Amino acid sequence: MSHGEHNFEQLHFQPAPALSGDLPGPRSQAMLAEQDELESSARSYPRSIPVAIEEGRGATMRDADGNTFIDFFGGAGVLNVGHSHPTVLEAARAQEQKLVHALDFPTTPKLGLMRKLRELLPGRLRESARFHFGGPTGSDAIESALKLTRAHTGREAVIAFQGSYHGMTKEALSLTSDTSFGGPVSTPVHFMPYPYCYRCPLGLKPESCELACAKLLDTALEDPHAGIPKPAAVLIEPIQGEGGTIVPPEGYLKEVRRITRKHDVPLVCDEIQTGFARTGKMFACEHDGVQPDVITLSKALGGIGYPISCIAYDSELDTWKQGAHIGTFRGHQVAMAAGLAAIELMQEVDLAGHAAELGELTLALLREAHETLPCVGDVRGKGLMIGIELVKDRDTKEPWPEMAAQVRSECFQGA
Ligand SMILES: Cc1ncc(COP(=O)(O)O)c(C=O)c1O
Repeated sequence: MSHGEHNFEQLHFQPAPALSGDLPGPRSQAMLAEQDELESSARSYPRSIPVAIEEGRGATMRDADGNTFIDFFGGAGVLNVGHSHPTVLEAARAQEQKLVHALDFPTTPKLGLMRKLRELLPGRLRESARFHFGGPTGSDAIESALKLTRAHTGREAVIAFQGSYHGMTKEALSLTSDTSFGGPVSTPVHFMPYPYCYRCPLGLKPESCELACAKLLDTALEDPHAGIPKPAAVLIEPIQGEGGTIVPPEGYLKEVRRITRKHDVPLVCDEIQTGFARTGKMFACEHDGVQPDVITLSKALGGIGYPISCIAYDSELDTWKQGAHIGTFRGHQVAMAAGLAAIELMQEVDLAGHAAELGELTLALLREAHETLPCVGDVRGKGLMIGIELVKDRDTKEPWPEMAAQVRSECFQGA
């Protein structure tokens, strides 16, 4: 059944939001208390949004007390077609009846998914991409991308960017710039400044900087005295997600592509969060017309939340020996069938165009808030990947995390 055959009421809980009584409600409170006894102290989301979730449908969620919320989080970039979309569920259920686990044998869902991805990828990748499915999470795709580019180039070091987030496994963590995760750094990694123009790390203005941060990357790769050995890869998020929804200025990514090509360094675009229509294009690197050598994919690749990740890469990099990179869960057939169904749905309803349109509308409204509310320091985004930066003072740009927490809490309370 196609998306068009489902009406709004079937796709989302109605009405939404709909709250009864104080939050968290009694069942949520009891479940949060039990979680407190059982689960690791590292858990995070329920500390700032204290709720026990029972059901999700489309863009809405229901808690254990029957309260209905609008879900602006989308499973951290996973649920691009919403919770439990009926078309995707149907494909997943049908596959579950046939085959769930298949290592790396060819199967109908896997071949279908690879063919579909090829159809959508930018540039040469469209004709000749190779795919590698590794472990099920985004971090696994990052590990694969590093291992592949290292094997291919025979180099060890990697260039990543300040503000980056690439995951929690050892290599991915080494490439994640936020030191508060306290990870052991195993990779020789060099962090270059990312074009965070609202707080330019070089103290410049976007109108006149002439992409100085990209020039710095060029120098780092060119100058033998830069202290950076020629890297196996430059790894970049086309829009930084966890770093604060940082959208590079037009032309920046293209310049990074030009520079990496000039220095013969593979460019890896981490599209784990930006991929699959979220930014108004199927992949965010398309905004700049950039073709990476490797793209890492996960999150929305699993359709409605099934765990799966893969890398898509230029066939010239396909120099791995048989069995060079393996993994027990590299053939999750239900995730593949769901991913394929979700991508077909995205195409059918032009989800990217829809995200672009809604994104423009949302940004216009938020820019009005920027005009009138002094605490709104910056509003930025592409498609429906949008961030608002709250500051105590527009001149000093001092961040206001307490205000962000309060806004979040009041949204949760339906205030
Ligand atoms: C850009 C990016 N890369 C990699 C990851 C890691 O993915 P996972 O949490 O599935 O390992 C994330 C997760 O948020 C991400 O946003």
